[in-house]
Amino acid sequence: MKLKKKEISNWNEMASISPWWTVLNLDKYKSDDFEKKEFFKTGEKEIELVMQHLKELKIRWKSDNLLDFGCGVGRLTQALCPHFKHCTGVDISDKMIEVANRFNRYPDRCTYLVNQKDDLKLFSDNQFDIIYSSIVLQHIKKGLIYRYFKEFVRIMKPGGLFVFQLPYKPFFKKRVKNIIKKVVPNLFLNIYRKMRTKTTAHSNMCWIPARKIKRFFDEQKAELINKIPFTLYQQNDYYSYLYVIRKL
Ligand SMILES: C[S@@+](CC[C@H](N)C(=O)[O-])C[C@H]1O[C@@H](n2cnc3c(N)ncnc32)[C@H](O)[C@@H]1O
Repeated sequence: MKLKKKEISNWNEMASISPWWTVLNLDKYKSDDFEKKEFFKTGEKEIELVMQHLKELKIRWKSDNLLDFGCGVGRLTQALCPHFKHCTGVDISDKMIEVANRFNRYPDRCTYLVNQKDDLKLFSDNQFDIIYSSIVLQHIKKGLIYRYFKEFVRIMKPGGLFVFQLPYKPFFKKRVKNIIKKVVPNLFLNIYRKMRTKTTAHSNMCWIPARKIKRFFDEQKAELINKIPFTLYQQNDYYSYLYVIRKL
């Protein structure tokens, strides 16, 4: 499965309307008129919980090089910076990266890059100690997710960790909505989207059962160490896990 140009332009179009609201789908972030500090605090809260969780697992990791995949405006990358010597944020949208650079408080050890490919050839083998990705993979088509998964294993150091959020099943209500979406003609869906968000650009949602995640990484010389429910930002639509994978 290939990455389509439309997927790149969708993210850029949404970022042009509001990069903040594209990241966190709350009405208060639709305009530019809010305290950015408060927005970035949501990232600090998430990273605090994740670091605490990793400590509780009593696993070792190195703090040299971190990759935040699908970094958006750097909400999480900035919160990760105090924990690592160097952080790299990568995103498909150049508009997002433009904003991330404007709000980079650690220019000497935080780099933002654009990658509009379905591979991660811009990174070398065994480069990162930790790869983090939250509320990103859920918007990528399944076939592509597995391509990126293989790339993550390649660019992780042996013993390195891949920590990520991904939905594993929709709420019943959401299943019904998804069926309705399949039968309603696209024209009507687009009119509805335009009325709600001023654009027809939108992100789809993808979910993968946990047993498939485990099986996949077993085959990639990586192990699933742990998974816990991830309930931040859950808007009654999908159940997610936060997975911790280690490259063997
Ligand atoms: C909902 S935002 C989350 C941003 C960030 N992870 C956060 O939580 O603040 C999803 C981000 O994923 C990016 N994205 C989507 N598909 C991507 C891909 N194939 N490669 C890299 N980034 C991608 C989008 O451009 C967008 O910035």
